[in-house]
Amino acid sequence: MSLRSVQGADLKGKKVFLRVDFNVPLKEDGNVSDNTRILKALPTIEYLLEEGAAVVIASHLGRPKGKVVDALRLTGVAKELEKLLNRPVKKMNDCIGEDVAKAKEELQSGEILMLENLRFHLDETDNIMNFAKELAQHCDFFVEDAFGCVHRAHASTQGIAHFLPAYAGLLVKNEVGALKAVFQNPHKPLVMIMGGAKIDTKIGVVRNFLHKADTFLIGGGLGNTFLNAKGFNVGESLCEHDKASLAQDIMLEAEKYNERIVLPHDVKVASEAREDAEVIDLPIQDVEGDMKIFDLGKITTQRFVDIIEYAGTVIWNGPLGLFEMKPFEDGTRVVAEAVAKTKATTIIGGGDTLEALARFGVSEKDFDHVSTGGGAMLEFLEGKVLPGLAVLSR
Ligand code: 3PG
Repeated sequence: MSLRSVQGADLKGKKVFLRVDFNVPLKEDGNVSDNTRILKALPTIEYLLEEGAAVVIASHLGRPKGKVVDALRLTGVAKELEKLLNRPVKKMNDCIGEDVAKAKEELQSGEILMLENLRFHLDETDNIMNFAKELAQHCDFFVEDAFGCVHRAHASTQGIAHFLPAYAGLLVKNEVGALKAVFQNPHKPLVMIMGGAKIDTKIGVVRNFLHKADTFLIGGGLGNTFLNAKGFNVGESLCEHDKASLAQDIMLEAEKYNERIVLPHDVKVASEAREDAEVIDLPIQDVEGDMKIFDLGKITTQRFVDIIEYAGTVIWNGPLGLFEMKPFEDGTRVVAEAVAKTKATTIIGGGDTLEALARFGVSEKDFDHVSTGGGAMLEFLEGKVLPGLAVLSR
């Protein structure tokens, strides 16, 4: 799939509807607490302005489900953007309506208008065409830079392309380029590290990479599902027992192609997720009763590190234990440090994984590509056609 890039559009004197993913964490006072996603959209905004366009910026924040929720207004986000760009950003109180139409009509080249949270209208997530048409009103181009939202067929990510010529922004182009390269032509051996609690989406990625990856290192809740499918007792750990046969199929298929699925040999267990929990590191076959697995054991962690050291490419999505708590952070921390240090091409993503890096003080600069997409990155790696990218394809 090749995308129509905004760098191929003549933007002088044009109005651009720019969809960004400013779904960022806010502090209690409404100010932004982590501006990473805003920083990553700056190159596109600056490019549009330099090329002489007027920019109408739109985003969602949270999941207000069609209701106006004051805590999910984009006012603090607009303030942060204004600070980072060092230019005025005119913030609207809605994303459609008369006031917005007038402001869009009057917007001049080099000016920025920021609309209110798109999801205050259910028509956004329901992808209603009249709503998409109203978003497009007075604009000449649609530029998609919200990589984190391209797996959504919403009015501002898909519907709007019925009314405006659609182009990929620089962030979307960069994300797709990096993910496509590891998918099509990875430096070998390709090691995939998969963890986290959201088991369903990860299984799809593992399946899609079965004939590409050399080794899968699996931990977290996903690891428990595989261990259970292998017949181990995982006690009362987070585990999708009903996915056992799917996990068994995947392990059988991997064996056929000589791909290795490396599961924890030893694990850290406790009876409760507590900061003062009594933690035992024991072989997986000794897990029993009401024990809960919260982290990789020491031997497994070292095994993962040894494999990462000799990788040509590492793709990592999902923490390998309950890293938010000190007693269970070691597996994820040691693996994060090993991935940051390796000479391999490294691609990481997923909100939890990035949170873990921040907690351990591991810099994002130590990775080749840090994706802004959580669900979007996984669905891309699952090989799905993403609606928000399909409208940008040539
Ligand atoms: C994300 O944070 O992954 C994106 O902003 C998408 O948000 P959503 O899952 O609410 O659509």
